[in-house]
Amino acid sequence: MTQHERLLIIDFGSQVTQLIARRLRELHVYCEIHPYQKVTEEFLKEFKPKAVIFSGGPASVFAEGAPSAPPLVFQLGVPILGICYGQQLMMHLLGGKVERGHGTAEFGRAFVTPSAETLPLLDGWFAEGREQVWMSHGDHVSEIAPGFRVYGTSPNAPFAITADPERQFYAVQFHPEVHHTPKGAQLYANFVKLAGFTGDWTMGAYREEAIRQIREKVGDSKVICGLSGGVDSSVAAVLIHQAIGDQLTCVFVDHGLMRQGEAQEVVSMFRDTYNIPLIHADESDLFLNALEGVSDPEVKRKTIGRLFIDVFQKHAHEVGGATFLAQGTLYPDVIESVSFSGGPSVTIKSHHNVGGLPEKMGLKLVEPLRELFKDEVRALGRELGLPERFIGRHPFPGPGLAIRCPGEITRDKLAILRQADAVYIDQIRRHGLYDEIWQAFVALLPVRTVGVMGDGRTYDYACALRAVTSVDGMTADYYPFSHEFLGETATRIINEVQGINRVTYDITSKPPGTIEWE
Ligand code: XMP
Repeated sequence: MTQHERLLIIDFGSQVTQLIARRLRELHVYCEIHPYQKVTEEFLKEFKPKAVIFSGGPASVFAEGAPSAPPLVFQLGVPILGICYGQQLMMHLLGGKVERGHGTAEFGRAFVTPSAETLPLLDGWFAEGREQVWMSHGDHVSEIAPGFRVYGTSPNAPFAITADPERQFYAVQFHPEVHHTPKGAQLYANFVKLAGFTGDWTMGAYREEAIRQIREKVGDSKVICGLSGGVDSSVAAVLIHQAIGDQLTCVFVDHGLMRQGEAQEVVSMFRDTYNIPLIHADESDLFLNALEGVSDPEVKRKTIGRLFIDVFQKHAHEVGGATFLAQGTLYPDVIESVSFSGGPSVTIKSHHNVGGLPEKMGLKLVEPLRELFKDEVRALGRELGLPERFIGRHPFPGPGLAIRCPGEITRDKLAILRQADAVYIDQIRRHGLYDEIWQAFVALLPVRTVGVMGDGRTYDYACALRAVTSVDGMTADYYPFSHEFLGETATRIINEVQGINRVTYDITSKPPGTIEWE
């Protein structure tokens, strides 16, 4: 068991609790999130937190069986920060009053102004008189608990920031962990400083802890892991291999829709560099035959997803006796799959193409990256010694080139697309632009156009270059290449790739476009 200074986040069910953990990791503070049901007096005594954070949550303190915390938490003598529901619960348990919504519910941006007294928790705040915060609450505090004072108010929240500095109890009505509270990170920094954290946590420590947890969970069982060649599944595989060695077998399903040289790269890296047992399931014929004549993007995705499950299952059975399936699920995948409104959201594209695999195979899941964001996974990959060129790779969709070849897919088209894509990526790397771009690729258009080369007429395919910047793939802007770059790239593609005689650049942002063409 690692002995870091530990902060305990008690989770009352907020959608953004993981963001609190992320803000703390950025401050090099080790924290663990535990659901309130698990946080008993015994748990607290054993955990020995150096500080505690009460998360937000959707409940009302008046509800029957409302989420709560054991009274002991207030006697530990450690700083506590309550957020939103956490604030209401603190007031409720410490002798203040909470009232139901009735027209005072508040959702969205608000501005907090300071009271006369200063509070170290707010160091760096209010330089411009007021701060923007993000509110999201139904009930509100109507009377603060004895010992507390008010340090900030908003038009609808007279108790936006409250504290009992003697006991180091802090309670805010808004969410400092979200980006819409621009000075939120500063508030967390102040809180952990007040709690005396030295910031001794690193990605190296995270790796150690993750390895310990994987060993504890898996014991001496066998684990299989589907490798896609992307960063997430690769980092998960290398991490798990470091934890349990050859109890792990990776299965790489090659659907014949990878980019140039990609399948070979994955196989040699895992087998030769890392010595991880790997099954290379070359099933390109199966996939490409099934996709013959298919032009509808959703049918393509579903066909690939279905076959993937079949093939994966077949090869996983060869391993024999595996009880766990490892996946490189990231935190954004987890939040995306929980709808905020509680209702089903409209399917733009069915991204989760291999959903349902664990249930179908009766396997338990190991998802060691479930709490991390993409940039943290990359940092963990570096910690694990994965090559930089690999870690920085652009994301690549599960259905691969199938969705970069709008309309019907043929082997010939895929060969042309692979070559054009390789030239384009080479251009981007040569110009030193690769790391500035979130994703870049060529889409081969299902249309032939007339051109002239030498003295002859050509009648070949047109392609579109795509390059976008993005933070999370949810929104994106097209990348502003120079005309020189675009001209040079078009010339190279037309000269070097037989079958393409026209190159266009896609300048659509997302929304209204999507990143991929299908
Ligand atoms: P879109 O095209 O929806 O892409 O703007 C957003 C991000 O998701 C990737 N993407 C997929 N990933 N299966 C995947 O695993 C899919 O079916 C799929 N479709 C899009 C896309 O490459 C981009 O990074």
